[in-house]
Amino acid sequence: MKNIVVLVSGGGTNLQALIDAEKRGELGNGKITCVIASKADAYALERAKNNGIKAVTLVRKDYADVAAYSKAMTELLIAEKADLVVYAGFMTILDEQVCNAFPHKMMNVHPALIPSFCGKGFYGLHVHEAALAKGVKLSGATVHFVTEECDGGPIILQKAVEVKNGDTPETLQKRIMEEAEWKILPKAVQLFCDDKITVQDGKAVITE
Ligand code: GAR
Repeated sequence: MKNIVVLVSGGGTNLQALIDAEKRGELGNGKITCVIASKADAYALERAKNNGIKAVTLVRKDYADVAAYSKAMTELLIAEKADLVVYAGFMTILDEQVCNAFPHKMMNVHPALIPSFCGKGFYGLHVHEAALAKGVKLSGATVHFVTEECDGGPIILQKAVEVKNGDTPETLQKRIMEEAEWKILPKAVQLFCDDKITVQDGKAVITE
């Protein structure tokens, strides 16, 4: 069985999608063993506790800088014997220490079709504000491996979602979560846990 550790900062609806998928037997050879929040008031922590999952807080502002926080996170992930680390709405920057300790063993869900609307400053509702400001007709979500480059790691899965007339950042966010994020994140985790993803020449390749 692979130990899945989920990193969160907020509401945790993607965490909930993972918990629900596990209950349906859809995480393959994986089990969510720990949830780590960067904020003490993250509602995602309640979701973990309600489902009997170990919930830990590692608060960013308790650490002097990104390096000190990243060191503490790396040590915690190693102590938790993480086989897979999932960023599910995790909004705190970590440095290369974590990537080096878990190469191609960390994945992130991003609420746009990378390489559009990604990188520094593109998180949460800001992503959807930018998509609407550009007037794109399709947006969506991406699950990718985490590397040192923000939102730049190998792409595992993507799903497109229609932008509709009159969308606000909030309505677009909701549609992208429902139609894309909550589906492709559990699927990517299942593929990883069943050893169906390899990285070749910097690209993720799925063998079903
Ligand atoms: C999700 O839309 C996720 O894709 C996004 O934040 C939201 C978290 O919601 N993540 C990022 O923007 C990371 N760059 P949740 O806490 O309900 O899962």
